[in-house]
Amino acid sequence: MSFLMVILLALLLLCFFSFLLRWSVVRYNKKGLPPGTMGWPIFGETTEFLKQGPNFMKNQRARYGSFFKSHILGCPTIVCMDPEINRYILMNEAKGLVPGYPKSMLDILGKCNIAAVHGSTHKYMRGALLSLINPTMMRNHLLPTIDVFMRTYLNDWDDRIINIQDKSKEMAFLSALKQIASIDSGLLCDSFMPEFFKLVLGTLSLPIDFPGTNYRRGIQARKNIVSILSQLIEERRSCQQPHQDMLSCLLGSDDIKYKLTDQEIIDLIITIIYSGYETVSTTSMMAVKYLHDHPLVLQELKREQFSVKERKKPEDPIDWNDLKSMRFTRAVIFETSRLATIVNGVLRKTTKDMELNGFLVPKGWRIYVYTREINYDPFLYADPLSFNPWRWLDKNMESHSNFFIFGGGTRQCPGKELGIAEISTFLHYFVTRYRWEEVGGDKLTKFPRVEAPNGLHIRVSSY
Ligand code: HEM
Repeated sequence: MSFLMVILLALLLLCFFSFLLRWSVVRYNKKGLPPGTMGWPIFGETTEFLKQGPNFMKNQRARYGSFFKSHILGCPTIVCMDPEINRYILMNEAKGLVPGYPKSMLDILGKCNIAAVHGSTHKYMRGALLSLINPTMMRNHLLPTIDVFMRTYLNDWDDRIINIQDKSKEMAFLSALKQIASIDSGLLCDSFMPEFFKLVLGTLSLPIDFPGTNYRRGIQARKNIVSILSQLIEERRSCQQPHQDMLSCLLGSDDIKYKLTDQEIIDLIITIIYSGYETVSTTSMMAVKYLHDHPLVLQELKREQFSVKERKKPEDPIDWNDLKSMRFTRAVIFETSRLATIVNGVLRKTTKDMELNGFLVPKGWRIYVYTREINYDPFLYADPLSFNPWRWLDKNMESHSNFFIFGGGTRQCPGKELGIAEISTFLHYFVTRYRWEEVGGDKLTKFPRVEAPNGLHIRVSSY
């Protein structure tokens, strides 16, 4: 009897699972959709995608071509690995190809966050941001602030074992805070930093609003950050002392071109810290890693940085001309971003049914503009797996149409030069003051994010 029950149960389970799979096939079997598989209902192919990482993408491309459908991270998704179509997608937001970032990210970053707004609102918010970080602002205000910050931040690293992953994260956060509101270490910073780290984790979590989830903590962290920033804005308004920072520009007199509401100012500040945080910190950490592993590159970088140092007095800050002269350092930053692939791609979604590459893409589907593989294309980058910054000096690679490290089209990274300035200044003070070696034994993972799960420890000593 119990044997029969087991058989019956097994049959029922079999029917149930084949129904689920069938449901998926039927549900997404609209005529004209691109080829591909959708996996299980709700979960789709997320587990395979996260487990196999870039290999999942490569295998699907081998079976279905560079434009295929899948169901990942909770959404029916088109993955596009074709550079031409990717460029078209990034250039054509007005045709209904808007940012498609996950709900948790949008909830936590706020409804005026740049990734959440489209059309004229996006133009306005982007204009406001660019007015803070344009070349004149960079030259006159941001670069001097970055210089003061980096030379102080890199004090006292001598004769210590440092977790460069933690340090570069802290560095990216504190540097942004100083540029935004002249905040140095202190009480405000001590309360802001842990909230910001919770906010970041929340944006990368599933939107499950339950006590103890990263999402709930992220939402709470946002509330705390909004309250800190509102208080800061109030204080600034009642204070007579002039400040030279982004917040003072945003709160400036009534005749400024971009007048934002307090909520927009707060969301823009969160956008600036958030967008530069992981990109700048991970690129800095990986640059330290690659420089350690490639002595000839380090030698060339040091030659460049010492020649900057030698033509200045010790108290002279890194200025615009110094930055422009750091051609090899810039190349090291690009090569690091390429080889480590700090950004795998960007997300868009459709606001209406549309035809792309001869296929139907239904309204509300996500498009993963997956640019990772371009970084390893041997036609673009000879011997693509080698760390070779010199390749960026040879041709004008930076303006190549398939260069997607900073995105492309209407949402191309507005913080590119600011990010490069921060990393270059960090590298300047790091390599001209210290030598270092890895302690060893630390692991690095490259997907879905580049990180050292237990930190990346280096032993630092001064010259
Ligand atoms: C090495 C450093 C950086 C890298 C690799 C990087 C990469 C990117 C990429 C790939 C995008 C495109 C996103 C999309 O199309 O959806 C982007 C957008 C953006 N980045 Fe960066 N970024 C860096 C540094 C920064 C910094 C320092 C800031 C600070 C201001 C910043 C602010 C932004 C903003 C606000 C956007 C959204 C632009 C829009 O939607 O119009 N980024 N970044």
